[in-house]
Amino acid sequence: MQQHHNADTDRILLETSGLTKVFRGLVALRDHTITLREHEILGVIGPNGSGKSTFFNLITGFSKPNSGQISFDGQSIAGLANSRIVELGIARTFQGSRLFSSLSVSENVLVAAQLRHPIAPLNAILRGSRYYSRLKEAQDIGNRLLEFMGLTAQADRLAADLPYGDQRRLEIARALATEPKLLLLDEPAAGLDSHETHELVSLIRSIRDKFGITVVVVEHDMDLIMTVCERIQVLAAGEVICVGTPEEVRRHPRVREAYLGYE
Ligand SMILES: Nc1ncnc2c1ncn2[C@@H]1O[C@H](COP(=O)(O)OP(=O)(O)OP(=O)(O)O)[C@@H](O)[C@H]1O
Ligand SMILES: [Mg+2]
Repeated sequence: MQQHHNADTDRILLETSGLTKVFRGLVALRDHTITLREHEILGVIGPNGSGKSTFFNLITGFSKPNSGQISFDGQSIAGLANSRIVELGIARTFQGSRLFSSLSVSENVLVAAQLRHPIAPLNAILRGSRYYSRLKEAQDIGNRLLEFMGLTAQADRLAADLPYGDQRRLEIARALATEPKLLLLDEPAAGLDSHETHELVSLIRSIRDKFGITVVVVEHDMDLIMTVCERIQVLAAGEVICVGTPEEVRRHPRVREAYLGYE
């Protein structure tokens, strides 16, 4: 992965418009619109059930919108399969852990890296030089990421045996192993102590600065959101309430209203 410095481009990486998702009469997301610039760090906040994870699910193809458009890197992606969207360059972590708990740390990352460097079934059977070169590519990506995340010493342990904070970092390593242009983090600070949360802030920054990856963070931890995000979008009951800088969002009257009686 090449070094990348946080250039302020005006290039638009992701754009949604009129994005709507209904579950049996309940509108989980209504008319969602966002324009995300390349290399930006965007925060998405809102009370429980306001549609934050639904937004991620729609963009990553885990769920199909009832209406609306999603354009990523100049291409329409609404309704595409998740595997295709991963190939196009969007990776995510989940709100709850979804590691392969019976695989080792390095295997978890290798499986993800192979989504981008797949081995054709015939090559896997024949095990010729092509098989080994593809495998080596994926292993190299995995090893570099484990090092970047400080997990090299844990490489051979089972994912399930890692301390909780390391498991959360492994989830991010696994998302990065697919070499995304856009990384979506769904409540990455949940369950972390204040020291680990502090480290997560620098980690998110260095993911953007070193790899040039655009990041969207969903979080309830306001300190983290206000520190790391350049812009923040606020959702409430499936609707966009406002988008702005941390300062603008902090002052916005409808934001206080949305959180009234909630925290
Ligand atoms: N698969 C589903 N089937 C039915 N309803 C769903 C489904 N997924 C989400 N919902 C509903 O859609 C609404 C938005 O849910 P979503 O998970 O997007 O909220 P959220 O903002 O991520 O909340 P939290 O902060 O608790 O994670 C909620 O009312 C939720 O119950
Ligand atoms: Mg959620």
